[in-house]
Amino acid sequence: MDSNKAIAELKKDAARVANTNDLVLLKSKYLGKKSFIASEMAKLSLLQGDDRAKLGKQLNTLKTSVTDIIQATQDRLDKSEADHQYAPFDISSPGRSLSLRSRVGHLHPSSLVLKESYQIFTELGFAIVDSPEIETDWYNFEALNMPEVHPAREMQDTFYIKDSKQKLLPRTHTSGMQVRFMQANKPPFKILVPGKVFRNENEDATHSWSFNQIEGLVVGEGVSMSDLKGTLLQVVKRQLGDSTEIRFRASYFPYTEPSVEVDAKYQGKWLELGGAGMVHPEVLMRGGIDPNKYSGFAFGWGVERIAAIKYNISDLRQLWRPKIEFLEQF
Ligand code: DAH
Repeated sequence: MDSNKAIAELKKDAARVANTNDLVLLKSKYLGKKSFIASEMAKLSLLQGDDRAKLGKQLNTLKTSVTDIIQATQDRLDKSEADHQYAPFDISSPGRSLSLRSRVGHLHPSSLVLKESYQIFTELGFAIVDSPEIETDWYNFEALNMPEVHPAREMQDTFYIKDSKQKLLPRTHTSGMQVRFMQANKPPFKILVPGKVFRNENEDATHSWSFNQIEGLVVGEGVSMSDLKGTLLQVVKRQLGDSTEIRFRASYFPYTEPSVEVDAKYQGKWLELGGAGMVHPEVLMRGGIDPNKYSGFAFGWGVERIAAIKYNISDLRQLWRPKIEFLEQF
């Protein structure tokens, strides 16, 4: 029996094994019923004594070698499969779409309006400024002429953070950044403060316990109400279309004097945008700014309100529901 020849042939075949199927065929060729080993085994019964013992021993050794080679081949296959599974892949290569219509994500309507606002205000020379979502009662209210007992606080139902020494709260508006920024920067400046605000109120079609606002603050020498109106008109025309008009209605905010409500005429209807006014001298002083030298205007409005107007959304709650069919329209 030529074991060496059988082993040499097996090694050649094993090297060519590329998948599980090849491996099954290999096993069957070398260990199966029609294999060389099987036919040699069959001869054993015809032999006697020493001859039988010799061949038996040879066959056992051969079988061990064959099994080892097949096992090594199996190990090689397993490893290459694992390597393949965890191999680094090219993340820049185009993806396969899982359905006929591949679903490409897009920005949420609030983000679309925010992004557009950043673009418009930046072009007008405003800096976009970040501010803390958790604010002190002082910056959110007191610094803006709303002491503890001031009725204007009731316009903004507030969540308070229990047991906080500095009386912390999730900000009710982005106006809290006004005095913060004034204390840290010298005029002139023009800033836009975007951010989420929080109110302890029930949800309905036009109210939510959390929404986005943008706050504008401009302080410099000779800043006037006409600057405020001119700026807002520009912004609204850019955001809602060139034919949009604006109007001011007299209003009251403790931190502006005079104060106005800003409306926009969009597709023939007057819609309320938000509040604005000339920064109250007390507020300027709290920010370390001399009201005899400088003046400023401020305004604030809800981002979702703009989204509602622009995209004709009648119920703001839909913006916060995980309903892909609704959000996909924008
Ligand atoms: N903070 C007001 C609100 O949340 C909006 C506002 C009104 C901001 C007048 C201002 C302002 O800067 O001058 O309803």
